[in-house]
Amino acid sequence: MTELSPVLKQATPVTVDHGSGCYLYGTDGRRYLDFTAGIGVTSTGHCHPHVVAAAQAQVASLIHGQYTTVLHRPLLELTDRLGAVLPAGLDALFFANSGSEAVEAALRLVRQATGRPNVIVFHGGFHGRTVAAATMTTSGTRFSAGFSPLMPGVHVAPFPTAFRYGWSEQEATAFALRELDYLFTTLTSPADTAAFLVEPVLGEGGYIPGNTEFFRGLRERADRHGILLVFDEIQTGFGRTGKFFGHQHFGVRPDVITIAKGLASGFPLSGIAAPRELMARAWPGSQGGTYGGNAVACAAAIATLDVIESEGLVENAAVRGEQLLRGLRDCATKAIGDVRGLGLMAGAEFTTATGEPDPVTAAAAQRAAIAKGLLLLTCGAQMNVVRMIPPLIVTDAQIEDALAIWSEVLAEL
Ligand SMILES: Cc1ncc(COP(=O)(O)O)c(C=O)c1O
Repeated sequence: MTELSPVLKQATPVTVDHGSGCYLYGTDGRRYLDFTAGIGVTSTGHCHPHVVAAAQAQVASLIHGQYTTVLHRPLLELTDRLGAVLPAGLDALFFANSGSEAVEAALRLVRQATGRPNVIVFHGGFHGRTVAAATMTTSGTRFSAGFSPLMPGVHVAPFPTAFRYGWSEQEATAFALRELDYLFTTLTSPADTAAFLVEPVLGEGGYIPGNTEFFRGLRERADRHGILLVFDEIQTGFGRTGKFFGHQHFGVRPDVITIAKGLASGFPLSGIAAPRELMARAWPGSQGGTYGGNAVACAAAIATLDVIESEGLVENAAVRGEQLLRGLRDCATKAIGDVRGLGLMAGAEFTTATGEPDPVTAAAAQRAAIAKGLLLLTCGAQMNVVRMIPPLIVTDAQIEDALAIWSEVLAEL
């Protein structure tokens, strides 16, 4: 008898029968309020009828039109539709399947376009599991341990993680930018540095939003030195944070963004967007792949864009996100050192009485919530942050239901 490899670690004991909206229905006959959304993917909810209809229609017409062999309508239409939501000037797209592939595509682009070898990433960032993406991931050694050698040319600068340092946001930001400048004089000269790769909100690293001063500092240094600023919007994109893209909270212009997750409501689709002129500096034929820009995934993405717009999901994420954060703050006990987030990315960080990370209590809280019918995940380098990432269609009442369960869990810890 064959079985799933033990390398896959399950965050919950649930086997799903089907999903609908904000709920997953287990083979155990139970209904679960899903505040994991497939790690920030099913933004339109599970099996949104408009997405289902678009995918079903596409399956009957063309499933796979390999995009370096032929073009197809869903790919061209999606490219066109994304023009309405992408940041100004990012007018060329390349599509792949997973977030890690998009990150690798961005890496190839920035190295080829600048002719420079190095990239600077920010401590606590998560960018994926393929070797290059894992090298650029610093949210936990669990993502890169045991399969070295990793990729050369990656340097790590601090992210303004104020709570961890025990500093104010301003102090943490001043420190992060000072250390970045020090990195330029000690490890990678600006002339050798192709890009900064940064998440607007650290995701896997603990749900820690960046701030305007920090990102402006990156933009200013990027402009001064001809370095490209790449925002990894794989988790923060498509309305998740209450703006269409996470970096838009900070008024800072990206040179490249990576996209995936919320783009196609669960179909595997990712991509990078950059100015056409920048893309043209990469080597023709250097990007591609068998499955990229799959026709069914593109049709689902077009339908996803329709739903985001017609149901006002970006606005809903902003309003419901505030409700969620407020509720999490109101019911926080002394087991919780910090509550933070942006839009519908909310995290509660568990700490001990002496302020140390407390993964044991975080895991116990996550398990207890699941037992009460609320699916949650943990994150953070020490896995001591419980995160809530509901679908963007989440209602006022569903947020209140989740908060009621969470309050009970905290009271019973
Ligand atoms: C910010 C960010 N970048 C990259 C990735 C990697 O995406 P994938 O797991 O699809 O390879 C993730 C996945 O969680 C992510 O959150």
